[in-house]
Amino acid sequence: MKRTLGTCYYPEHWPRETWEDDARRMAEAGLTWVRIGEFAWSRLEPTPGDYQFDWLDDAISILGKHGLRVVLGTPTATPPRWMLDKHPDMIALDEHGRPRGFGSRRHYCFSHEGYRAECAKIVTLLAERYGKNPHVAAWQTDNEYGCHDTILSYSDAARDAFQTWLRARYPGTNNAGDIAALNAAWGNVFWSMEYGDFDEIALPNLTVTEPNPAHVMDYRRFASDQVVTFNRLQTDIIRQHSGAPIAHNYMGKITEFDHYKVGDDLEIASWDSYPLGFLEDRITAPDTYKRTYAQQGDPDFQAFHHDLYRAVGKGRWWIMEQQPGPVNWAPYNPSPLPGMVRLWTWEAFAHGAEAVCYFRWRQAPFAQEQMHAGLLRPDSADAPAIHEAREVFSELENAPEAQAAQAPVALVFDYEADWMWRIQPQGQGLDGFDLAFHTYRALRRLGLSIDILRPGADVRGYKAVFAPGVMHLPEDWKQSLCASDALTVFGPRTAARTADFAIPTPLPPALPGLDVTVSRVETIRPDMPRPLHGGGAAQLYVEELDGTAEVILSTQEGASILMASDSNAYLGGWLDDEAMIRMAEWACARAGIETVLLPKGVRRRSDGAHTFWFNHLPQETQVGDLALPPISVTRT
Ligand code: GAL
Repeated sequence: MKRTLGTCYYPEHWPRETWEDDARRMAEAGLTWVRIGEFAWSRLEPTPGDYQFDWLDDAISILGKHGLRVVLGTPTATPPRWMLDKHPDMIALDEHGRPRGFGSRRHYCFSHEGYRAECAKIVTLLAERYGKNPHVAAWQTDNEYGCHDTILSYSDAARDAFQTWLRARYPGTNNAGDIAALNAAWGNVFWSMEYGDFDEIALPNLTVTEPNPAHVMDYRRFASDQVVTFNRLQTDIIRQHSGAPIAHNYMGKITEFDHYKVGDDLEIASWDSYPLGFLEDRITAPDTYKRTYAQQGDPDFQAFHHDLYRAVGKGRWWIMEQQPGPVNWAPYNPSPLPGMVRLWTWEAFAHGAEAVCYFRWRQAPFAQEQMHAGLLRPDSADAPAIHEAREVFSELENAPEAQAAQAPVALVFDYEADWMWRIQPQGQGLDGFDLAFHTYRALRRLGLSIDILRPGADVRGYKAVFAPGVMHLPEDWKQSLCASDALTVFGPRTAARTADFAIPTPLPPALPGLDVTVSRVETIRPDMPRPLHGGGAAQLYVEELDGTAEVILSTQEGASILMASDSNAYLGGWLDDEAMIRMAEWACARAGIETVLLPKGVRRRSDGAHTFWFNHLPQETQVGDLALPPISVTRT
């Protein structure tokens, strides 16, 4: 596989006279891909039905003339102002019932049929016009579904669509909807919440106290499905006119919809990687930790998403937007240390990325993102990142082809589980994503390459599988995980709920061949951890485990925390870093996987043919005989 670079470009932001020079400089810098168009609706259709494609024709042909390949974005994340006069009720409402108004972006409700029809129309026109254009080599649908908290909408359109969705989920014998089945599934007898008809069911906001978790869970499933069908509307149209692959650009730690399901309708998964913004904005960690990585980003957060999107893209994935300098949206927005843009780019390639595109070509002097760096400064002079992009380009010339190899360990990440944790955290600071990420981090500290798996995935070939916090584990998959050759570590809170958000009986986790029962669950204050024998502690979320399985880890008070049979284990608590590493070391040793505890800022990843070492620290760091220079990528 050839690895390539690209950038995100907005020809509509710049005078027509600059396009030619921009394209020439992009090609000179070694870029292959240019993503355009995703926010340009007001220039493509300035007033309803007045289509203006000439400028886009020109932009594409200029880029093409310089050998660049275009990723054409559909502009549906930015409906123009006139759209609101045409469809005043297309705006999403927040959970307090307030409109998410015009004046930025993503101001639409996924359920609004009128807006969907407008999207279908503009996407059809773009696909008809550019579907066979030789320079349009890929497509992007919309832009970052879910960014700015935009999946859940409490509009009338959403309520009506939710009722229709519920009728289909509880179809009854005549497919008209069986309200008794819904009442039973949700447990609506509790607090007299029973419904007589689907029309009576509101969205789960504005209730006096918390709504029924089963109600919220179905609403979240519905909201996720709305994204899937919204995206599919576009991919179906594009495919009628174009054979080019279609991508979507997902955003870091946005979990409100099932990316695997959206990915099933796409050829390529891509994601937008802003390591410094994420460290300040998306990661819970002490200030000392954030200070250490303030200009490098978290050493695992990007890698986690690379591995996640390799799964979402079924092997094919890109970085559609790579941070090139300070961003504008985190609490603090420092510059990356010299060398970090190159490190991030190589890290993506080491995890199997086909392409890395830098956001954006030139810093905009106007509007919301005027403080966001690009490859060029606002005056068109080179900004520091373009030199690092050039360096990667020249390194790619001589680099061996990337290989795809199965990792020895797998980690399950399930979007539905993340929703369940959010609906019922049972204690502050607990969330499904963080639990999976925390497990991932421990495995990476042990020098491992990891594959992330979607629920139901085939685990053949893995020596160890970790399935933390997968709150609903469908019975057939549970059976096959338990029966697989891999050592599977379940828990905490895995298999703890039915699909309807009820506690199952027999009590969880009910794993065949492993005599462990979670007899009670507690959440505890962060300043009251339970120390373990041998080091580390259980914290925040702790289960009481009964049963006769072998006890591997226990608290100093004598409570079992990790219990195992020969090929399966159950972990009954949220562990701190030290205990998590001990748990992972034990599991790997039992599964016959070699591990090495890496220094804190160092990570490695093997792609089958090579091992890449990444030193995120600004000083030389020794790993065994290997001396890793400051902020560096080393291939062995
Ligand atoms: C992304 C978005 C881009 C731009 C960028 C700034 O979330 O897709 O359009 O806003 O952030 O960092």
